[in-house]
Parts: sequence; structure tokens; C-alpha cells
Amino acid sequence: MLECSRICRFQISLFVENVFDAVKVGLLGLGTVGGGTATVLLRNAEEIQARVGRPIKITHAAGLGIADQTLLDPATTKLTEDAFEVVDDPEIEIVVELIGGYTLAKDLVMKAIENGNHVVTANKALIATHGPEIMKAAASQGVSVCYEAAVAGGIPIIKAMREGLAANKIQWVAGIINGTGNFILTEMRDKGRDFADVLKEAQALGYAEADPTFDVEGIDAAHKLTILASLAFGIELQFDKTYTEGISKVTTEDVNYAEELGYRIKHLGITRKTDKGIELRVHPTLIPEKRLIANVDGVMNAVLVQGDAVGPTLYYGAGAGAEPTASAVVADIIDTVRTIDAPLHHKVPLLGFQDDAMRDTPVIGIDDVESSYYLRMEAEDHPGVLAEVSDTFARNSISIEAVIQKEPESNESTVHLIMLTQKCVESKVNVAIKAVEALSSVKGDLVRIRMEHLD
Ligand code: HSE
Repeated sequence: MLECSRICRFQISLFVENVFDAVKVGLLGLGTVGGGTATVLLRNAEEIQARVGRPIKITHAAGLGIADQTLLDPATTKLTEDAFEVVDDPEIEIVVELIGGYTLAKDLVMKAIENGNHVVTANKALIATHGPEIMKAAASQGVSVCYEAAVAGGIPIIKAMREGLAANKIQWVAGIINGTGNFILTEMRDKGRDFADVLKEAQALGYAEADPTFDVEGIDAAHKLTILASLAFGIELQFDKTYTEGISKVTTEDVNYAEELGYRIKHLGITRKTDKGIELRVHPTLIPEKRLIANVDGVMNAVLVQGDAVGPTLYYGAGAGAEPTASAVVADIIDTVRTIDAPLHHKVPLLGFQDDAMRDTPVIGIDDVESSYYLRMEAEDHPGVLAEVSDTFARNSISIEAVIQKEPESNESTVHLIMLTQKCVESKVNVAIKAVEALSSVKGDLVRIRMEHLD
């Protein structure tokens, strides 16, 4: 009896020590998001401890030029330029990867997992492209990998989809998931600003990726959509199958014509379950201006999720920037600490579905996607042209829903014709577009922007 009480007391004291000891975090990267994470962890330390029950301390941090940083106290945080030193520090329990990119980040994360560390990352490119390998390694080591900040910055969309919507069969997800792109489109529409000028501002504000073509050519949004599709439908991460089109070809003219027709052009990531398979596509999209998501402006992101039980739900917030992204990173650290000693089967599965229940539903190509279209063309200004164009679409089984013809500019002999089609398969529209472009009365290529009603 005496023996048992001694053992019990010993176990309790171990438990108490474990509960109240600071959790030691290793931080990789002290750039925009790394700096934001350190700031939030330090500023809100008391609030966070009240939620978690233990202090969380950055005890080792790596970053380029880290000796010059002023956020972390070298008396309590070891500072190094060598990120592997942090990952190999045996005291570290959670490695927070905020370096970004593919190769180095992957090596560091894999090493952290091998060393038995839990990982938190904001790296969407890493999860979208190397997620399966990383998650397999994490499962075999019994550690967690959290990536809330990888999609839509500060919006807790991963948590919402993995937990809050877990009762639902998700039907589709549509999101504005690149803050830089949304900021550019908003400024073009509201202020008629130049594309390059707005992009520079987004870079200065810390919104844009290190390589801003990731933002404007849709790659960043495609990384995020890849993750959302897995969470929605229980399919593997398949970045290579995501159709990706950016905003670099969107003109102020089209933004204005869309407004005249009652639509906004937004850069959307859309994933939808259909009878043929799963749509996975990122592109500029006309959406009715009366939809809430059409009014999400600036760097803000929004994700609309349609579940069979709940119906549509909309998640809105800052999609980029130091502290909004840090908010998601720190939430992941908190989640990790709360279940740090729990076995993996007591934790939420990394992609929201049990590993052995993942599905092999095919992802369909863009040619098989059904959508409506905004088509703009430059046509000769003489009688019969509109009829000829409409007839060509009709012969290709494309139904036109609305047409506008703009007044010709003075001394111009051509006019802009804008047509909105009804829903049809993309491969059919492609054939019709080619036929219209071949008409002698139509000049140059047609502009085509997909259109979604999101109802
Ligand atoms: N470059 C990204 C964006 C940052 O603009 O949304 C957040 O992932």
C-alpha cells in the first residue's frame, strides 16, 4: 500500500511537472510570418497559457541575419543561422517551419519528424506537393503535422472543414484564397490602378510570395485548393491535377464589363464533386455581385463550403500578412500542445479522413468541367455580324443567355461584343470559340472567363 502511494505520488509529480513545464518550440524562419509568430506568442503569452495550461516558449530559433533581430531575447532563445541545429536540438518538442519553399523546408520537416518532433507549418507548397510523404512519415513516428496557416491565412478553415463540418458530405468548395490576387483585382476595379503598381504594394506589405508569379499565376491558390479538396472529399493531395490559371491576363475592360452585367471578377479556387469525378480548378471567375463572396475585397480571403446537412457556410478573414497568418500558426501550436501526449488515433486525422478510408475518386480535366462563360470579342461593326456569331454558337449547341454590344469608339470600325453563355461542357465551348474566331467578321482571339453562380 505504502509502495503504491509512493509510486502514485511520483506519477502525479511527473504529470504536474509535464503539465506546467514550458513547451519548447523551435522556430525556423524569422521573416514576415516567423516574426509575426514570435510577436504573437510573446505578446499574448498569458492569454495563451490560460488556454493551454502551460507556457509555450521559443527556445531555439533559426533565420538569416538572426543576430540582428530584436524580437527574441538571446538570453532565453538560442539563435542560429543553421535551421538543422534547431531541428536536431533534443530539447525541442515542436518544430515550426516558416521558411517556405520546397527543398530545404522538406528536408527540415522530414528531419524534425525523424527526430520525433511535432511539426507546425504554414507552407502550402510543401503540403500540397510533398504532403503524402510527410504525413506517412509523421504517422509512422506518431507525431502530428499541423498546417492551418497554409490555407487562407488567419481563417481557421482547416479546423472548420476537419472538425466543424465533419458531419457533412461536402458538395463543393469555392474560395478567394490568394490575398495578393484579390488585392490587385480590387484595386484595379475600384481605383483603376495599374497591375504592376498594385503588385509592388502587395510585396511591400508582406502579402506576396517570395516569387510573386505564384500569386498572379494562380500557383499559390492551386496549392491551397489542393489541400481543401483533400479535406472536402477524402482524396489524396493532387496538386499536379489542379487546373491553374492566374489573373495576369484580366483587363480593366473586362472588370468593368462584368460590373455592367451585375458580376464581379474574382480569382477563385473551386473544387466540386460531380458524377464524373472531382473538379479541381483555379481561375478568374465572374460571380454575381449580390453574393457575399463577391464583396470580399482587398487582401481578405473567403471560403464558401457547401455541405449536404449544413448548406452553404462562408468563412472570411485576412488571407495574408504577418499577424493574421501567425494567428493560425499559434493556434496550431496550441492544438499540438493540448494533445501532445495523446496517441495519434486520439487526434484529428491530418486530412480529416482516416488513412484507410481515403478515396480514389478521379479528378476530372478542365475539358470535362461544366461552367457558364463570359466571352468577349472584337467584331466588325456592320449588320448581320451579331446574328452570324450567335448562329455559330447555336450550331455548336451553346446557348447564349445575354449579349451586349458596346458603342464603337469614334473612328473605330469594330465593336466589342460580350456574350454570357448558359452552362455547358468546356470542350464544347472550345470548339465553338474556334469556330467564332474563324469568322472573317471577328478580329483576333476571344476573351473567355468562366462564370459561376454559386447557388
Ligand atoms: N501570398 C499569399 C497570398 C500569402 O497573397 O495570399 C498567404 O498564403
